[in-house]
Amino acid sequence: MTEHKIINGFSKFDRTQKIQWLIEQFHLDAETQAFLDSFQLTNQQWQAVIADLSENQLSNFHLPFTVAPNFIVDGQTQVFPLVTEESSVVAALAKAAGFWAKRGGFKSEIIGTQKKGQLHFSWNGQPQKLRKAFPEIKQKLLKEAEPLTQNMEKRGGGIRAIELKELPEILPNYYQLDVAFETCDAMGANFINSCLEQFGRSMKDWASTAPELLPEEQGLEVIMAILSNYVPDSRVRVWVECPVEELADEREEAYAFAEKFVRAVRIAREDVSRAVTHNKGIFNGIDALSMATGNDFRAIEAGAHAYAAQQGQYRGLTEAWIDQGKFWFQMEIPLAVGVVGGVTSLHPLAKLAMQILGNPSAKELMAYLAVAGLASNWSAVRALVTTGIQQGHMKMHLSNILNSFQVSDEQKESARLYFQDREVSFAEVKKFLEKHV
Ligand code: MEV
Repeated sequence: MTEHKIINGFSKFDRTQKIQWLIEQFHLDAETQAFLDSFQLTNQQWQAVIADLSENQLSNFHLPFTVAPNFIVDGQTQVFPLVTEESSVVAALAKAAGFWAKRGGFKSEIIGTQKKGQLHFSWNGQPQKLRKAFPEIKQKLLKEAEPLTQNMEKRGGGIRAIELKELPEILPNYYQLDVAFETCDAMGANFINSCLEQFGRSMKDWASTAPELLPEEQGLEVIMAILSNYVPDSRVRVWVECPVEELADEREEAYAFAEKFVRAVRIAREDVSRAVTHNKGIFNGIDALSMATGNDFRAIEAGAHAYAAQQGQYRGLTEAWIDQGKFWFQMEIPLAVGVVGGVTSLHPLAKLAMQILGNPSAKELMAYLAVAGLASNWSAVRALVTTGIQQGHMKMHLSNILNSFQVSDEQKESARLYFQDREVSFAEVKKFLEKHV
C-alpha cells in the first residue's frame, strides 16, 4: 500500500490545485486535469450550482437521467424521472407501469405525514420533579421556539406533540424529548433540528432557574438534538389489484403465476436472507426516483429498513394475496420527503424532474416513490418466478459490453441475435466481435 502524507488545508486549495495535488500523489496521467474538465458542464451557472453541492468538487460524476412512462397513479397518468446506475431498473419500471396501466393502475393512500425528532439529555435530579413540571416546561418549550415555528404554522405545520421519556435502562439519568412535527411540503430537516436545539437551550434554562430544584439538580446536559429518520407516522400504502385471470392469457397460467408470486412474496416476509434482496429490489425504484427529485435516499432507506424490522425480524416490505378471484399486491412504507427547499429546488435536473411529475405535493411524491418501489418489486419477483432474472439482466449486460467496444449498429444487432440463447460474457462478446468485423 502506498503511504500518503497527511494534507492540511486541502479544502482551501482551488479546484486546479486539488487536481494537481492528486496527480502528484497518485502519479496520475498529466491528462487527468483535462479528463476531469471534460465532465464539467459548459453552462457556468449550472456548473456552479453542482459544484456548490459538495466540498472538494473536482468534476461531475454522471449517471443517466431517464424516464419511465405510462404510470397510472390514482387515475392520473405519470412519467417517472429516474436516476440509476443499474441498467435493468428503468426497463423493469417501465414494464410494470405498462402492465398495470391496463389493469387499473396503482392506487395510494397516505396514512400519516408526521415526522419525529429527539432531544437527548442527562439530568441528575429527582425524576418526579421533572414529571410534575413537564406540562409547564412544555409551554415554555413551545413559547421559546415560536420564532422558529411561526412560519411553519402559517403553512399548516409545526410541532404536534412533545413527550418526555425517562430511560434509565439505557443510561443513568438519561431522558428524551420525543417530538412530533408536521413539515408540510418541506423535508423539514433544518426546521426540526433548529427546534430541537432551541428545546435544548430551554431545558437547560429550566434546570438552572426552577425554584423547586436543589443546587445539585441545576445542571442539565444536552447530549444531542437531532431529527429521527425513523418515520413510521409518515407512511403511505400503495397497491395494485385485478382479477387473477387478467394476469395471463390463459386462466390456468394466470392462477399458477399468481400463486407462485404470492408464495415468493411470503418467503420474503419470513426469511431474512430473501427479505433483504427483495427489499433491495424495492429500493431500485424508490432510490432512482428520489435521486432524480433530489431527495435523500439514505434517509429514506434507513427509515424503511428499520420499519421492515419493526416486529423484531427484518421482513419483506410488500404483501401479496388472492381473495375471491382477485390478486392483490401492496406495500406500506414510511417515507419522509420534501418538494420545496434542499437539492430539489437547487439541482437543475431535479427541478425538471419535479416538473415532469407535475410539481407534486410532498404527499403525492410519497405516493410516487412508493409506487416506484412496488413497481420495481413487481417486475423483479415476476421475472424471478417466471423466466428468471438473468434473461433481462443479460440483455442489458450485453448492451453495456457492446458499448465498451467501438461497434457499428449492424454489429450490435447481429450480436444481439447471436447471444439471444447463449451465455453473455465479456470474453465471448469480444470473440464474437473479432469474428464479425
Ligand atoms: C437486483 O437489482 C434486484 C433483485 O435481486 C431483486 C429481487 O431479487 O427481488 C432482482
